[in-house]
Order: sequence, then C-alpha cells, then structure tokens
Amino acid sequence: MRKRNIPMVWTSRPVSRLKGIIRAPGDKSCSHRALIMGGIADGTSHFTGLLEGDDVLRTGAAMAALGAVVTRTGAGEWTVAGTGPRGLASPAAPLDFGNSGTGSRLMMGLMAGYDLTAELCGDASLSARPMNRILNPLRSMGLTDTAEPHGRLPFRLTGTSALKAITYAPPQASAQVKSAVLLAGLNAHGTTRVEEAKPTRDHTERMLRGFGADVGVTRGDGQARTISLRGGQKLLAIEAAIPGDPSSAAFLIAAGLISPDGDVMVEGVMSNPTRSGFFDLAELMGARLGAEDTGEAAGERLIDIQSGSAALIGRHVPQRLVPSMIDEFPILAVLAVFATGETVVTGAEELRVKETDRVKAVVDMLRANGVEAEERDDGFVVQGCGGPPPGGGLVETRHDHRIAMSALILGTAAQKPVSVDDISMIATSYPDFLGHMATLGADISEGQVT
Ligand code: S3P
Repeated sequence: MRKRNIPMVWTSRPVSRLKGIIRAPGDKSCSHRALIMGGIADGTSHFTGLLEGDDVLRTGAAMAALGAVVTRTGAGEWTVAGTGPRGLASPAAPLDFGNSGTGSRLMMGLMAGYDLTAELCGDASLSARPMNRILNPLRSMGLTDTAEPHGRLPFRLTGTSALKAITYAPPQASAQVKSAVLLAGLNAHGTTRVEEAKPTRDHTERMLRGFGADVGVTRGDGQARTISLRGGQKLLAIEAAIPGDPSSAAFLIAAGLISPDGDVMVEGVMSNPTRSGFFDLAELMGARLGAEDTGEAAGERLIDIQSGSAALIGRHVPQRLVPSMIDEFPILAVLAVFATGETVVTGAEELRVKETDRVKAVVDMLRANGVEAEERDDGFVVQGCGGPPPGGGLVETRHDHRIAMSALILGTAAQKPVSVDDISMIATSYPDFLGHMATLGADISEGQVT
C-alpha cells in the first residue's frame, strides 16, 4: 500500500484531439468571500456551486472555529448561519489555512475588528509568503500580532473592537490587501478608504453590496479608484449561486487552443473585467473565442466560452491587462510556447510572491521541456516554437497548483509527454481538474514515461 502524502509523478501524453463541454467550477475568490461574509451576517445564507477546493474548505473551517455554523447540504451546496455583528470569538485551536493566501489574508482583515486572539498557520508554501503587506495597514488600524520581524506565518494576532478606520493606498496591485483592509473597515470606527492605482478583482466590493452594505467607489485619474466603506454596517444573509471561475476555465480554454483538433466549451464562466485579461490577451494572440452571455449569478455576468485550435502569435502583454490576469501567467506561458515569435511579460513582479516564485517556476517548466525562456525581474520572455515544443521534461511544481495544471496542459500537445512531480495541490483550487481533462480526451495518468 502506498503511504499517504508522498508526492507522485504524473504524466500528460500528447493527444490528437480535445473535445467536450465542461461546466466551470465555482470561483475560488467568490467562494472564500461568500463563507466569510455569510459567517458574520445576520441570518442563514445559502450557497450553491461553492468551490469545494481545499483552500475554500479551510476558510469554512476557520469561520466555524470562530463561531459561524457552516454546513454542507449537498454537492457544492452550503448554508452558513452567521453570528451577526460582533459575534466572532477566539478559536480553541490554531487556524490552519493550508496553501491559501486568500483565505488567510482576508481572515486576518476580518479578525482585526473583533476582540479575539487567534493563532494562524499554513503549509510550507504559505509560510514563505509575505504577510506584512496585510499586517502593516491592519496594525495602523489597531491590530496587534507576533509576526515581526519576518512577517511570515505562523503567528498570533489579537483584534480589537476599537479598530480605527484608515485611508490606505496599497503599494502593490493586490485584491487580497484591499479586501483585508475593507473587511477590517467593516468593524472599524469611521470610514475606511482604499485607494487603488490599478483596479484589482472587485468581488469584495460587489459581494459586500450583495450582503446589503453600502460601498462607495469613485474613479480618479486613469485607472485609479477609491473604495470607501463606513464602519459598523450590518450584513444580511443572502442566497447566491457562485459564478464559475475564469481562472480555472483558462486552463481548459488554453487546452482547446493548443490542441491539433480542439473544440472545448466551458459553461457558466464569470465575466468580470477585473478577471478577463487572459481571454483578452488570447484574442490579441490570434485566438477566436466564442462567448455567449447566459445570465447572472451573485451580481456577476456569466458567459459560455468556446475555444478551438488556433495559430497564435507572441505578444508583449499590455500593462493594463496584468492585474486582471495575475493568476493566468503560467497558462499564458504555455500558449506563448505554441505561438510564433516572442511573448514578453513585464510589470508582473507580484508573480515572485505567489504560491511559489512563479517567474522562476514558469521559466524552469518551459526550459525542462526544450523551450527557450528567460526571467526578467518583473516577468519573463518566451521564444515561441510556432507549434508543438519538444516536451519530455519533468516539471518541479513547488506546491503550486497552477504550475502543475499548466505543465499537464503543455503535455497534451507537446511532441513528447510532460511529467510533474506532484499533483496533490491541484485540489486546492480545482479538485475536478483531472476528471474534466479526461472528459475532454486528455491522457493524464500516474507515473513517469522514460
Ligand atoms: C485573490 C487575489 C489575488 C490572486 C489570488 C486571489 C483574491 O492575489 O492572485 O489567487 O481572491 O483576492 P493578490 O491580492 O496577491 O494579487
């Protein structure tokens, strides 16, 4: 019998055709926020289509440890009985966020406004990620913590019901920082403002409104905007269907584009301009994506997206698209491999502090498969092969789900199979990935081809 938790090599072999229709899994960002806001609302919220990835389940467990009643009633169906205002209390045991940057960071913001103390921890990848970007603004609002001087998990934090509102301009384009400050601001005295130089995903603002809060958004010069939230507002329970995740859909759409005979439809994908950069860029590279509007869920538009084999051209990624495709750079790199000419990514220094250093991980993934690629401080450059790359490599995934999925997609259309050293962490964001790829006709299985 195999021992648990030993990473196993998996291999994706080239296939001549990928075809099928897949319903997009629930959006990870929206699923976290639904559990968090439901957990402090007045009344019981009902969610369908919630992503049951490990990251989201840990946020649910953390909210339950703080006093919300979080119940699974069916596949993707959850109820959350909120504590109402001021209801969260210190958890009895440390809150373990696993691999989840979003869960841990949003929850830090939330807990800052309560009279409670909590120990926070996570896996090796999360414990290496910077938390001072969250803690610094929260400290200036009144949070105390034991994270200094390193600003890394594990640490203890103590919130306060005497939190003070601030006006904060995050130095990074980060929805997690914005959201942590806004969630803290919900329980702060005064009006909290976050000034964004570049717009990041706006699910916190939209969902707070869905739960009945008054959230102001004013536009400044260029892309700048200020989000304001008056403290002391009460949230009211909602019923919502979680929209499909565009970041997960991007893998399937890319698979259709690079396949020699691709015909892939992904249904129910959230269409939000703060998340659509990858699809916009794919079209700039020559993809023709069919998109049909199919309605709305939780205040977001939904579309079905169709992709098929395309002749792609390398591009310089426009700066304006970077924040809206920040999670899609590993899979963009795969598209760039199949394109003719060079693809250049700059202004994406945030990739250095994702689940792993994604600049390095992407470049290593491509080089291991015979593709010319080089690092830039704030991005990378890929020399496109204008068709299938050699392949044949073993990719180091470094606890990063998006590197693992990108490498397996690369293998579906490379000349030789592509292997990854671990797939277990794919379950953090896309537990059905292998099943969905099998439905499309991919040949992905355990073991390495020698
Ligand atoms: C997220 C924000 C982004 C993104 C992450 C999810 C969110 O992180 O990479 O996967 O749900 O707020 P940053 O805030 O670090 O850019």
